[in-house]
Amino acid sequence: MGYTREELPIHTKSTSLFHNVETMPGDPIFGLMALYAKDPAEKKASLTIGVYRDEEGKPWVLPTVKKVEKMIAEDVATNHEYLPMEGLLPFVESARDLLFGNPSPSLTSRIGSLQTISGTGAVHLGARFLNDTLSPKRIWVSDPTWGNHHAIFDVAAPNVEQKMYPYYDSATCSLNFTGMMETLERDAQPGDLILLHACAHNPTGIDPTKEQWEKIADLCERKHLFPFFDSAYQGFASGDVDEDAWAVRHFVSRGTLELVVAQSFSKNFGLYGQRVGAFHIVAADQESKDKALSLLIHLQRAEISNPPVYGARIVAFILRNEELKREWEQDLLIMSGRIKAMRAALYGELQALQTPGNWEHIVNQNGMFSYTGLSEKQVLALRKEHIYLLTSGRASISGLNSENVKMVAQAIDKVVRESGDAPAPAA
Ligand code: LMR
Repeated sequence: MGYTREELPIHTKSTSLFHNVETMPGDPIFGLMALYAKDPAEKKASLTIGVYRDEEGKPWVLPTVKKVEKMIAEDVATNHEYLPMEGLLPFVESARDLLFGNPSPSLTSRIGSLQTISGTGAVHLGARFLNDTLSPKRIWVSDPTWGNHHAIFDVAAPNVEQKMYPYYDSATCSLNFTGMMETLERDAQPGDLILLHACAHNPTGIDPTKEQWEKIADLCERKHLFPFFDSAYQGFASGDVDEDAWAVRHFVSRGTLELVVAQSFSKNFGLYGQRVGAFHIVAADQESKDKALSLLIHLQRAEISNPPVYGARIVAFILRNEELKREWEQDLLIMSGRIKAMRAALYGELQALQTPGNWEHIVNQNGMFSYTGLSEKQVLALRKEHIYLLTSGRASISGLNSENVKMVAQAIDKVVRESGDAPAPAA
């Protein structure tokens, strides 16, 4: 702009080197949480972020986690040294075994695993790693997917084109499996990545059936698509860790597909702020796995050096002790059970109010979220009633409790009647 660097008049705002930085939009999920916090209304409901809340609407430290925290605090051998770059080994191994179901030694030799900054860090590391190794042209993500998937790939693999496969059928609030398969069959190219949610799809709460998963795996094989699983809800969706890992294990059991998995322990251990996660690669042979892992460790060193220890220590402690693991599985059942009960309660209230539309999808969907089918206009009208959910219509069901579910249903009933627009066709 006519100045040499030395001549730049540094005290005026307009000459900042960052003056032309594009202002980015705020994150819709965290932004909405902040908006909810600011609402002074006494009676309000947050169905915003995907975090578990107990019957009183409070964060829940899992009893098993609490117990283990005490044990760790009292252990004189506990220290705060650096972890290896691949993370806390007992954690990494337990995370792998939980996901893949105690894999055989020959399968284990083909799985490379390392600890990450929760699921987000795992997706980020995976995006960067696959970008550098496979140079994919495209990644296929479900329409819709977790908003951060887009942001992570924008940042970590900006040259990979993001394409969407149909997933949600807004007419029926269910899976558009035919549309998904037809689009991928027609438009996906060999070498493309495909992002799949292992269970409890975020944001729709709709998962493929086992038969449909088999067909998706067939398609990946036939079309040479590279599966990238995001597993953020293992055990949290059904209450059963094996059931929720079925899709990943099925893909692996075929022995024909190489794949990667991003794994989060935020939801199933309630360790949101501790950022506990792992990234796994299943390679065709041990030598390739070793090479891949060496690159992953190299990327990890350059990005974070080594992951944080505290949360990983808690998870490892629990998963490596049979009794504690059983207790944790009970905690999982409490969380998934309460969410299922709240789905039924909301559905029951809407039925009692004879709210226009068919609301069965609320009970049929799975995991943390319901894609309610409410329009953006209806969601904004709900905000005036002090009920907060994403403008996509995604509701985080654990924000409901027996205290507020009636109020939420009444508000939904009101906005649906006022708009004259029912989310799903009447049965
Ligand atoms: C969500 O989707 O609400 C959660 O996974 C939290 C997040 O990081 O977006």
